[in-house]
Amino acid sequence: MKPLRLKYIGLAAGLFCGTLLSGAAHAVDSAELEAANPIVPVPAPPLGIGGEKNPPATLADLPDPPTPERVRLGRWLFFDKRLSADNTIACATCHRPENAFSEPSPVSTGIGGQKGGRKAPSFTNLAWASLPHFFWDGRAASLDEQAGGPMINPIEMGHEDHDVVVAKVSKIKGYAKYFKESFGDEEINIQRITKAIADYERTRMSGNSAWDRYVAGDKSALSDDAKKGRTLFFGNGFCNNCHKGPNLTDSDFHNLGVGWDEKTQTFSDIGRFAVTKKDKDTGAFKTPGLRDVSKHAPYMHDGSMKTLEEVVRFYSKGGTPNPHLDRKIDRRFAEQLDFSDAQVNQMVKFLESLDGEGYQDTAPTSFPQ
Ligand code: HEC
Ligand code: HEC
Repeated sequence: MKPLRLKYIGLAAGLFCGTLLSGAAHAVDSAELEAANPIVPVPAPPLGIGGEKNPPATLADLPDPPTPERVRLGRWLFFDKRLSADNTIACATCHRPENAFSEPSPVSTGIGGQKGGRKAPSFTNLAWASLPHFFWDGRAASLDEQAGGPMINPIEMGHEDHDVVVAKVSKIKGYAKYFKESFGDEEINIQRITKAIADYERTRMSGNSAWDRYVAGDKSALSDDAKKGRTLFFGNGFCNNCHKGPNLTDSDFHNLGVGWDEKTQTFSDIGRFAVTKKDKDTGAFKTPGLRDVSKHAPYMHDGSMKTLEEVVRFYSKGGTPNPHLDRKIDRRFAEQLDFSDAQVNQMVKFLESLDGEGYQDTAPTSFPQ
């Protein structure tokens, strides 16, 4: 918890003390800006996501569904470094589209180079998160609540409230027009900022992977190795005890022993325990979804495993023994683990077949000024 707080305090404190990007870029004409960032229809879910059997069938079926206008606004805000004090950090600094909105380093670095203690998780298909648990320890209950978190942390930063962020966005005159377009009037408040960002996030869907095409009936979509890996994943490998459903997560919390220090008999991060204070949640973290997992390296909440092969070998030996090890991966329970080299390779091939389409994006080239 502590290191993460530091990160958010850093980001928030930075926001508070920040000065506006001034004078540098000359004003972008709004016709030009809109041509470069057109309003696009809210996308349909790709193969494997949504549909009648897996509600919401489409994003339009959500309560207060994303609108194209809000998604355009949220995309700008998500990528806008001016939301941080020294104009160096945006949501997208840590949640990069090319890494399926995770990042390629073990822990995040916030403003002023401060390191957090956890890795920025990937997020796609957020409208299908089966239980509303956000963060590795599940401490945020809604996406909108979550989106406000990184921007400020009033108690720990010792300052007042969300007004800082609102004031900063309000000073960028060009944004008013797009708040009006999205919400009916030019008022800028934190609910609108987080709503727009959360709506953009919800449109980042991932599907139509080789696995989805295989499940939909294209038997040639998976290689022979990936097919064997799939059988193992859903069979004797016991992976889908926890990695299940369209996002391959139960949105629940488990202790695999990641971060356990044998010498001191402690965890570097107590995980879910911080939220529930239940003994069994010590060292437990949220099961991450596995879509596009080949793009999430390094792996786990602390980024401690470099490759998928390393992760699979870790499971093969039944995790790291510790007093709170989840019985669903404990070797005494799952005797069939101990994968052969060939099986490790097959499992990796299956995990790679989860690379999908629909979330990809690049940073906008121009922003409201
Ligand atoms: C300095 C890096 C950094 C920045 C900037 C950042 N995040 Fe995060 N984000 C993280 C880390 C690290 C976590 C995991 C924290 C934890 O679980 O305790 C996280 C977690 C999340 C999650 C939870 C995903 C899940 O499945 O639980 C979402 C959603 C998210 N961030 C969205 C955002 C948005 C929106 C912004 C901008 C307003 C943002 N982040 C800015 C690093 C960052
Ligand atoms: C008991 C529940 C459980 C089982 C069974 C399980 N996992 Fe996991 N998996 C998790 C949790 C929880 C994490 C995150 C742990 C952490 O960060 O401390 C995780 C993390 C991962 C990651 C890293 C993802 C990322 O983005 O960092 C991969 C890959 C993975 N599991 C694959 C598998 C495979 C393959 C199997 C079967 C051999 C499997 N899991 C079995 C719960 C489980």
